[in-house]
Amino acid sequence: LAREPVPQDLAGRHALVTAGPTHEPIDPVRYIANRSSGRQGYAIAAALSARGAGVTLVSGPVSLPAPPGVALVPVETASDMLAACEAALPADIAVLAAAVGDWRVTHPGTAKLKKRPGQPAAPLSLTVNPDILASLSAPGPRRPALVIGFAAETEDLLANAADKRRRKGCDWIVANDVSLPGDGSPGVMGGDRNQVHLVTADGTEAWPSLDKREVADRLAARIAAHLAPHSL
Ligand code: CTP
Ligand code: CA
Repeated sequence: LAREPVPQDLAGRHALVTAGPTHEPIDPVRYIANRSSGRQGYAIAAALSARGAGVTLVSGPVSLPAPPGVALVPVETASDMLAACEAALPADIAVLAAAVGDWRVTHPGTAKLKKRPGQPAAPLSLTVNPDILASLSAPGPRRPALVIGFAAETEDLLANAADKRRRKGCDWIVANDVSLPGDGSPGVMGGDRNQVHLVTADGTEAWPSLDKREVADRLAARIAAHLAPHSL
């Protein structure tokens, strides 16, 4: 089936997208990670690029190819991801879809950590990672005109998402329920489909269950419509 031509209404805009998990090292052979596949973020990068935006995709470790025309910046840790995002500014649009690790190991081992007989607890202390979304949303001359975050929740989806939007200072939140379905099929994390809510200052919109490319196309169209009245 031939696809309709995509309007080039993001030509001249720079979009920063984050995607994937982060890997937080424990020691040379182990790390803390999560179930993010990167698919939703990669689809968003592709959709923004298809509308003519210049796209920088800062990605944690995933097994996906860079979408054509997108500048890929591979990173491992949350700290690396923050530094890569700051280096990519200025941007008109930031879509932070990465599942950033919330904690890192305070002092990763330079040699493999060993169990000690009789010690039941792991010899690990964790430190909270920097919040990339809150940092890019902070008011200032380098703040992108439109900053969009995701909210991954397993309970109280809309209340938590609205609260995250206010707390972090971003413009929109794409909220998704990441509970595992319990029927053996992949959940949102790792799966192909996504049922999201778009939370803005004006309220909440429920989107139908779509595949991740359709969510990305719809979000890109919304971004273009939002930025359209402004001059380039
Ligand atoms: N995020 C980020 N940096 C972090 C943690 C999260 O930029 N250190 C971003 C994510 O990319 C996402 C949004 O913040 O766009 C929300 O992520 P989420 O994990 O749902 O929220 P947290 O603030 O980490 O809260 P919690 O996991 O405790 O629910
Ligand atoms: Ca988190």
